[in-house]
Amino acid sequence: MALRATFTGWGKCVPPVKLTNADLEQLVNTDNEWIVERTGIHERGISHVETTDLAEVAARRALAAAGLETTDIDMLILATVTPEITCPSNACVLQERLGAVNAAAFDLNAACSGWIYGTATASSMITGGVAERVLLVGAEKLHWVMDYWDRATCILFGDGAGAAVLEPSENGDGVLGIDLGADGVAGRTMVFPTLGTRGRLSNVRDPFLHRLHFDGQAVFKIAVQGIEKSVRRAVDRAGLSLADVDAVIPHQANERIITAAGRRLGLDPDRVMLNIATHGNSAAASVPMALSDALDARMIQPGSIVVQTAFGGGVTWGSTVTRWGERVEPLGHCDLELPPCDETVFDLLASNRDFYAPLHTHSRAD
Ligand code: UT7
Repeated sequence: MALRATFTGWGKCVPPVKLTNADLEQLVNTDNEWIVERTGIHERGISHVETTDLAEVAARRALAAAGLETTDIDMLILATVTPEITCPSNACVLQERLGAVNAAAFDLNAACSGWIYGTATASSMITGGVAERVLLVGAEKLHWVMDYWDRATCILFGDGAGAAVLEPSENGDGVLGIDLGADGVAGRTMVFPTLGTRGRLSNVRDPFLHRLHFDGQAVFKIAVQGIEKSVRRAVDRAGLSLADVDAVIPHQANERIITAAGRRLGLDPDRVMLNIATHGNSAAASVPMALSDALDARMIQPGSIVVQTAFGGGVTWGSTVTRWGERVEPLGHCDLELPPCDETVFDLLASNRDFYAPLHTHSRAD
């Protein structure tokens, strides 16, 4: 049998503080009904800690599920579009925290598609003989670049982390098909202008620039079409048909996007994982958190054909098709929790509201 990379552990980390639709009604001119009907979101996590704190909890849970020590890992890939620091990489910060001294470590940015690009990278590293046990993490603190006066963007995104361990398999399980793609021309539909060196130093703290610039409707169309085509290509490359698919774990960007793409693919909605109601869109953390929830919900069984698919900033997209291995129950559990938070969600967002206030001349933005 061909050498493949198979998922042997998984875990997630959800911040304890939630931003509900009722909370948002107090911040911007919106209402619960609009948000639920247009997006499917009821609440989203707001992190009181840093990106790598979220990553560490998810990573330790994934390692425990795989029955591995941190020193067993020889590669650590951290997908994020909200790094807390650019050098050292977040992956290196996490490597130190874990004491994963045998692991090469690097960050990967493909925005919301980061998990799929990361899976493709981990799989290639394993089948290419470069690594044996890869820890893949998707972690985001997106609220740091959201303007909580802007109802068009702030209702969508949440913080969190998800992780998995991939190991070699020669019994037919593992990643069978991959599709990756990008369209830089469409990239201007979703931009964080200040998380790099572009422009003047003062831009870094300019509230107009330091926020998500976003054309929601354009992204919506790109997403529905992109997911459909990408899933078809990945399933085809796996030598399977859509009828063989047992579970689909899509990027949780908008329930309507997931439903529309699923309909185009002719997928049974019961096989499509949805957890956007409680997490919102958490970019690179979204698919691994949904994967963890799908395993907890027993949507995935030994031998299941699992499609993971995402699209996001760049514009990027990607899908993987995996024949799941025997492990659908964690081998072990990790008790690590985030430190408790004694602040309210409004406390956590207060500095954000102050920062963006100059852009909004009235008290409730629309
Ligand atoms: O991970 C990838 C990143 N992002 C995405 O995937 C998001 C993709 N896009 C979307 O999910 C949707 O386009 C949105 C949820 C962002 C917006 O939904 P929509 O159905 O495309 O709404 P719209 O932008 O066409 O706005 C419809 C109306 C507008 O009012 P008018 O012009 O019709 O009077 C908006 O001003 O809804 C208004 N609106 C709101 N109303 C209440 C926009 N945001 C809100 C809001 N609450 N939060």
